[in-house]
Amino acid sequence: MDRIRIVGGQRLNGTIPISGAKNATLPLMIASLLTEGTLILDNVPRLADVIQLQRILGNHGVDVMIAGKRPGDDPNQGRTIHISAKHVVDTTAPYDLVSKMRASFWVVAPLLARMGEAKVSMPGGCAIGTRPVDLLILALENLGAEIEIESGYVIARAPKGLRGGEIVFPKVTVGGTHTAIMAASLANGTTVIENAAREPEIGDVADCLNKMGAKISGAGTSRIVIEGVSKLHGARHSVLPDRIETGTYAMAVAMTGGDVLLQHARPELLQAALDVVGQAGATITSTNEGVRVARNGAGLAPVEVTTAPFPGFPTDLQAQLMALMTRAEGTSRITETIFENRFMHVQELARLGARIQLDGETATIEGVDRLKGAPVMATDLRASVSLVIAALAAEGETMVNRVYHLDRGFERLEEKLVRCGAVIERISA
Ligand code: UD1
Repeated sequence: MDRIRIVGGQRLNGTIPISGAKNATLPLMIASLLTEGTLILDNVPRLADVIQLQRILGNHGVDVMIAGKRPGDDPNQGRTIHISAKHVVDTTAPYDLVSKMRASFWVVAPLLARMGEAKVSMPGGCAIGTRPVDLLILALENLGAEIEIESGYVIARAPKGLRGGEIVFPKVTVGGTHTAIMAASLANGTTVIENAAREPEIGDVADCLNKMGAKISGAGTSRIVIEGVSKLHGARHSVLPDRIETGTYAMAVAMTGGDVLLQHARPELLQAALDVVGQAGATITSTNEGVRVARNGAGLAPVEVTTAPFPGFPTDLQAQLMALMTRAEGTSRITETIFENRFMHVQELARLGARIQLDGETATIEGVDRLKGAPVMATDLRASVSLVIAALAAEGETMVNRVYHLDRGFERLEEKLVRCGAVIERISA
């Protein structure tokens, strides 16, 4: 298994191109199942999760064509993929595929809406809590689906098609909102979703579906209205920039000091997180090209943060912020409200010398003068990158083991950091 070796202590200076968002790419690829037409996606990041989803879609008979690079192409540009679900050959998504990536469960919605049936294994994914699918099932039931759970599979049927309905989510759920929108797009009649997730990726997917002929309004607010249509067609859509990658590098620069342009980043996608990085002592400037993050000699200030659904501080940046706060001058508090058990990075950060105490859903971080490199183990996607951030500021060498988690969600991480002066290399097994 690959490892990543980091020697800390270098400031970061230069430009980091921000990739297309993983969390938009995955539902966009899944949305291709709604149409016989070809969906062309631009700005798709090169990630292990994209390849995995390609396999899963392939199992249903979907053709995914990824355009190769030509000489002279800008390596910083994401790729273009052509996805065609002209012939859906199988409506079952088996355990061995779905268990590798939680979001793949979402195929249940387009398969059910277009084919009238779907049999999808209960998901796996990052080990950050129980992550049930009850709300996704509730949404489909409200659209007239009959659902059974049998031997670890969700079996959904709507032989006469789905019908519009009202879905009131008792809790904000990104996956629930994506699946509800996809299913309702092909339902007969109008659907209203209340307490919908407002994450920017929801808006991005709704934009794409509208280009495919769907009639969705209100995406980005907590009330989404979808007028069902009988058919969707192909379209072309460019994936929005990854706000979690943006926030991660912003925190890395705040950690090491330096001055980096996060090219293509859109600050409005992560204002809450940029505000926190600003409070911690970095200077954040929006430019035509993206977001510039700089910190010179001054120390880091401690912060108090609670994760929340968008537009709040994202749970997907919680681990990275904790890494940053290990070096603050004072005591910080971070409360995680979205996922229980999303603190697996705490014990690994402690191996680098961090002082963190956990009490239920709150972590108290007492800033230390220095971190020291050590071997650490990546446990989930965002936790892994928090170890990279800490290692960039630690004295000596850190070896991050099990980096396949990083490859799931961060495109060319080492390359992007090396170009800004970090000492980081991948050691292939
Ligand atoms: C998505 C993101 C993930 C992010 C999360 C929260 C993708 C591919 N993944 O995950 O990176 O951390 O949003 O912003 O976009 N819940 C239930 N029942 C359900 C569904 C969810 O109780 O049926 C709970 C979850 O356990 C969690 C909360 O609702 O406590 C929010 O989860 P949700 O927003 O659904 O997360 P995902 O869509 O899985």
